[in-house]
Amino acid sequence: MSDTIFTVNSPCSRPSIAPYCERVRQMVTPRRFEHIVRVAILAEAIARANEFSRDELRATCLAAILHDVARDLPPAEMLALAPPRTELEREHPLSVHGRAGRRLVEQWGISDKRVLDAIEGHVFGVSHNNRIGMAVYIADVSEPGRGVNDEIRELAMHNLFRAYQRALDAKVRYLQANGKAVHPVTLRVHQEICDHT
Ligand SMILES: [Fe+2]
Repeated sequence: MSDTIFTVNSPCSRPSIAPYCERVRQMVTPRRFEHIVRVAILAEAIARANEFSRDELRATCLAAILHDVARDLPPAEMLALAPPRTELEREHPLSVHGRAGRRLVEQWGISDKRVLDAIEGHVFGVSHNNRIGMAVYIADVSEPGRGVNDEIRELAMHNLFRAYQRALDAKVRYLQANGKAVHPVTLRVHQEICDHT
C-alpha cells in the first residue's frame, strides 16, 4: 500500500478522521482503500475550492472516507444491512452498498444526516441542495485513479453544481444508450437537476 495515504495531504492525517480511516482500512481491499483515500483527498480539494465552511469540510472528508465502507462486505452481510428494494437492486446486489454503508456507520454512532446522505447517495445520486453529497459523488467518479472524467474534476473546482450535473447526466445517458435500467433515485435526482437548471 502506498505510504502517501497518511501524509499531511490526506484527510487521514486529521485526528478527527484518522480513527475512521483505520476502521475502513480493515474492512476493504488495499486497492479499494487507495481509491477511498484518493476520493477523500479530491473531495476535500473540491470542498475548499467551493468555499465550504470548516464544518462542511470535515463532514465532506468523513463521508468520503466512509463512502465505500460496505463495498467489500460478503454479499449476505451487505444484503442483511440493505435488503434490495427494487428489481434493479435485486439484479445488481452490489448496488445496495451505499445504503449498506449508511446503515453500518449509523451502527458506529454517526448521525450527521449530511454524511449519511452522502454515503448512500454516492451510488445513485443526491439532491442538488446537498453540497457535501455532490462533492463526494464527483470525487468518486473523477478521482485520478479512474482515468476518466478529468474535465468533470476540473469543472468541480469552480462550479460544483455544473460538474455534478455533467456527471449525473453522463451516467444517465450512458445507461440509456446501452439499454440498461436507470435506478428510480437516479432518475428522480436527474430530473430534479434538469428542472433546477
Ligand atoms: Fe461505491
